[in-house]
Amino acid sequence: MAGASARHSVETLIGRAAVERGMATRDQVLAAFEVLKAFPKEERAANFIQVFVQRGVLSAEQIEQLRGWVSEDESPAAKSGSGMAAPTVSSAQMIPGYEIIKKLGAGAMGTVVLAKQLSLDRMVAIKLLPKKFASDAQYIDRFYKEGRAAARLNDPNIVGAYDVGQAPGGEYFFVMEFIDGDTVFDRIQAKRRIPEREAIHIARQAASALKHAHAKGFIHRDVKPKNLMINKGGVVKLADLGLARAGGDTAAASEEKGKIFGTPYYISPEQIRARDVTPATDIYGLGATLYHMVTGRVPFDGTAPKEVMQKHLRDALVPPDQIATDLSGGLSMIIEMMMAKDPRERYHSADDLIEDLDHVAEGESPVHARPKFDPPAAGGMDGLGGPADGQVAIAAVQRAPSPWSTTMGIVILALLGVSVAANLVMVMLLMRR
Ligand SMILES: Nc1ncnc2c1ncn2[C@@H]1O[C@H](COP(=O)(O)OP(=O)(O)OP(=O)(O)O)[C@@H](O)[C@H]1O
Ligand SMILES: [Mg+2]
Repeated sequence: MAGASARHSVETLIGRAAVERGMATRDQVLAAFEVLKAFPKEERAANFIQVFVQRGVLSAEQIEQLRGWVSEDESPAAKSGSGMAAPTVSSAQMIPGYEIIKKLGAGAMGTVVLAKQLSLDRMVAIKLLPKKFASDAQYIDRFYKEGRAAARLNDPNIVGAYDVGQAPGGEYFFVMEFIDGDTVFDRIQAKRRIPEREAIHIARQAASALKHAHAKGFIHRDVKPKNLMINKGGVVKLADLGLARAGGDTAAASEEKGKIFGTPYYISPEQIRARDVTPATDIYGLGATLYHMVTGRVPFDGTAPKEVMQKHLRDALVPPDQIATDLSGGLSMIIEMMMAKDPRERYHSADDLIEDLDHVAEGESPVHARPKFDPPAAGGMDGLGGPADGQVAIAAVQRAPSPWSTTMGIVILALLGVSVAANLVMVMLLMRR
């Protein structure tokens, strides 16, 4: 296949992508590959679909979908880096005052390394941005402004921002608190689904980080599993707050000359439409993250980022408790409210969200999230609402009747009872005569 990497077969990349996207567990994929090994090497590709489908690991449709993603990821444009090549660790070894220890990871916006800040003798994480950004004066201006503002944030659930600067080699860098632990993304990959209690615990801490950030006038704009780190003590840390991103939100979640530059799975409808974003955008991102945690699936999927974004705009959300049937109705309602297409229908503040998460954690019903039963007003959000939201509403009614409809039911039953009794009395009176 043209798009396959020299080192990995398309099948291996598909298997890996399936795990990364929570479609299958690592063990399931490995077991299927074991079966595949029984075939001669040249026949493995031809038997790939059959083995994976027969073992119930993936559906044929999912495999085709993943094939599309993999070939896009591995396209020559992507491999050439589209000018977005991450700087190497060696070029970073020249940041004065820091001793680079090792590479921690890499993302769409650069490479992250573990380093020792020599003056304070402490471990830090440094994100190195590709050199390409150095020529974008507007971006660099934002990079410094947002970095400085982020350094003023002080919250146990936010990765601390320590320093920003330019290395002698030309790369811009962002120094932050080092988190010794894993990310929510790693946990989804390992377990596919995160148990409700644990997911609520994580979401509550993330919401607390948002509460602090929003109070200080920050909007994160990129809340997603990879940006929620969890240290060894179980404390959740929201990462990349104050790290200015290049381009608009859609560009960040879309393709750049064929390369998938970010992820479109958690992006809000208003970001896609390049409307003004408000703190409600972060509530949506956290809602989509929570959805992925508890169902093991991203809320909207597709064969290309554009398709996923279209679905964020138009498709009704499948209620999470319809996918994970053991999920509490309360948490499902919370997630649906967080992911309302119209930002005005989401939680008005992270505080309200925290309140609801606490209620559900205690086994009670949420107080802010309610099952919707009125379809949104026509044209409410210039196409952001519409029939899709109406479908969500119908699903919610079917799942949990509203107190109003319950009361109406009781009244109708009572009236029926009275009428039957009155008829019986009449019949008896007539018979006596
Ligand atoms: N403060 C930190 N402490 C420790 N490790 C970190 C820290 N920040 C990032 N990392 C590691 O570096 C990896 C890359 O981070 P980065 O923010 O560049 O990309 P990402 O958030 O994983 O993905 P994307 O580029 O799609 O947003 C993370 O997945 C994480 O494992
Ligand atoms: Mg990140």
